[in-house]
This record gives sequence, C-alpha cells and structure tokens, in this order.
Amino acid sequence: MNTVSVEILKDLYYMGVNDRETNLFENMWPLPEGVAYNSYLITDEKTALLDTVKITKVDGFIDSLKDNLGGRNLDYLVVHHMEPDHSGCIKTVRDLYPEVTIVGNKKTKSMMSDYLDIEIGNFVEVKDGDTLDLGNRKLTFVNTPMVHWPESMVSYESTDKILFSQDIFGGFGALNGTIFDDEMNFEFFQDEMRRYYSNIVGKYSKQAAKALQKVKALDINIICPVHGIVWRTNPDRIVDEYIKYANQVNEEGVVIAYGSMYGNTEKMADYLARFLAEEGIKNVKVFDVSKTHVSYILSEIWKYKGVIIGSCTYNNSVYPNVNQLLYTLKMNKLNNHVLGIFGSYGWSGGAVKELSEFASEGGNFEVVPTVVETKGTMKEDDVEGLKKMAKEMAGLLKAE
Ligand code: FEO
Repeated sequence: MNTVSVEILKDLYYMGVNDRETNLFENMWPLPEGVAYNSYLITDEKTALLDTVKITKVDGFIDSLKDNLGGRNLDYLVVHHMEPDHSGCIKTVRDLYPEVTIVGNKKTKSMMSDYLDIEIGNFVEVKDGDTLDLGNRKLTFVNTPMVHWPESMVSYESTDKILFSQDIFGGFGALNGTIFDDEMNFEFFQDEMRRYYSNIVGKYSKQAAKALQKVKALDINIICPVHGIVWRTNPDRIVDEYIKYANQVNEEGVVIAYGSMYGNTEKMADYLARFLAEEGIKNVKVFDVSKTHVSYILSEIWKYKGVIIGSCTYNNSVYPNVNQLLYTLKMNKLNNHVLGIFGSYGWSGGAVKELSEFASEGGNFEVVPTVVETKGTMKEDDVEGLKKMAKEMAGLLKAE
C-alpha cells in the first residue's frame, strides 16, 4: 500500500501511487525511475473521483479513497481516459459504490464495454463544452481526441481554475515525496517527461498541438495530470514545454545513432562527432543502438535538431536495431530536423541504400547532401567525406 494522499486545496485531494516495480511501460518503454499514476478526489456538495490508477495498486488506492470520503458516498467517477493505467480500478470502485454515476463521452462508454466487460449502470454522457455541477466547483469537459486515445478528454474546474489534464502534461518518473512543481527541480524530471511525450504521445503531435491551443486559451492556476508533477505554481512552464514538444521545436545539437558489429561504423560515428565539435556544435550525443533503448534515442532526437544515422550492413540490409530506430522515427513523424546518413558496405552493400530510401521518403526534414559509405575500414576519402558531412550539418543547423 503506497498511495500518497495530499490535500491540494480544500476538498480537493491528490491520490497518487508510485510504480517502481513495472519494468516496461506498455510492456515496451523502460522505467528505471518508475512512474506515478495520479487520481484526484473532489469532496464538494457532490463527491467526484477523477480517474483511477493501475489495478496492481488497487488496495492502497481504495483505502485512501475511503479515508478521504470520510464515510460519504461517491457520486461521480469521471473517466478522462480509458487506458488501463488509469481505468484499472473502475470496476472495483463500481463494486464498492454501485450507485456511482460514471461520467465520460460517447467513446468512453463503448470502450468501457469493450475493455472492462461490465454493466455500465449509471452513466452521464458528456460532449465537448458540457459541464458537471458539483456544488462550489464545476467541471467543463473538453475533448482532446488522440491525446492519447480517441476518447481522451480533459476537464476544467472554473472556480479554482484547475485543469485535470489526463495524459497531457504527464511524464515518466515516480514522485519521490515531491508532488508539486514548487517542491522540486524540474530539471530532475525534464528528460523523463520528454521521453514520455516523444514515445507515448509523439505520433499524435498534430492532435496534441490542437489540444494545447485549446488549453492555452484557458486561465489556469493548477494542472493536475495523471502522471507526474502537479503544477500549482508555474503551470505555464509545462504548457510551454509541451507546446515545444508538440511542434518539435528543438535546439542546436546533433544526435548520432549508429549500429556497428566490428567497430568500423562506430569509428565513423566518433570521427563525425569530433568533426561536428570542430565545427562549433556543442551538443553532440552519440548512441550505440545496440546498447541504448530506442526510447532514449528518440527523446534526444526530440531535443536536438540534427540527427545522423549510421549503419553497418547486415545480411544485405540495414542493421536490425537501426531498423527499429527508423521504424520509430517514421511512426513518430520526424519533423523539423536535419538528417544525415552514413554506413559501411559489408560484402555487397545494403545499409546505406536503405538509409537513403528512408531519407528520400521525405518528411518535413532537410537532408545533408554528403553520404559516406565505407568498405571495411575507413580510408582517407571516407575521413574527408565525414568532415564534409559535419560541415554541411553544422551549416544547416546554424542557418536556422
Ligand atoms: Fe497514462 Fe494513455 O495512459
């Protein structure tokens, strides 16, 4: 039982759990720092629980819910998002409070039938702009489709100007005692927040940008997301940060990600990194795709404008872990970047050919004209080619 319960304002409770035992979020994304699932309770003239937590945390969560209700009944359960990390305890809450009215939109309702396989019972279907009156507090619902699922919506509490934002403004990382933005150094969470955004929401950045426009128009004092930090002092900071993520606004720097079996492609990556430094690029990050999980590489690519991908040839194709990176970049719609490619030929080529195809398939990114493909170990011409490539990359970055 590790539910952390904190009164945010009078009659408004944070009820979050830290998950430090799950290794992979969505069974894919490493969680070395854990993750928090946040739920909120309003105890007004009516009581309302806003989202739940993952089912593995149900016992402590229900104890905390009962404590904060202080013997009162639960009138409403608002479901902003149906992904199981937040909907996991709906059935248990319903069993405990069978008269509770569930609040969601049309899509929420059908997803509840599909995912939870329960008799839905009392349900209020809300549309964009509808309100729910709790007494002193009123919730207005705003649909945010595909951020992160089709049924996703947020609610805005107009009395205290609170945004319950579900996945939006979330991040990886358990909350280690510090829950509010004014209690912690944001830098501590920033990388895990960007890794969460780029991998979980990145594909839906267009929809996220639209949702953020709606959010930006609201007068917000507090942001309560379902993962990560509660923003009660400087909510604008996270809104601006997310707007940056959604539009892939990045900074000067280059990520070099390479796959290498015998060290030839790795050596090219190191030469490139040095040549970029000589061109005045201060932020250069080099990753071996076989060692660093692709989610970290994507997150760094989200941060920096330049990306250079290198691959040895493996069975006449691109190296499998580089292929995974290419898939990830396609899926998340690489945008507003400068791309360079290099690699080694192996017996008969293939890797650079496939990288060139990736580059020519296009997207909203510029491609560095020089491509370097080495046969076996690097020769003088290859070194000169890499130097040229670094110069062109630096020129394109600095031209921005
Ligand atoms: Fe945290 Fe999309 O669920």
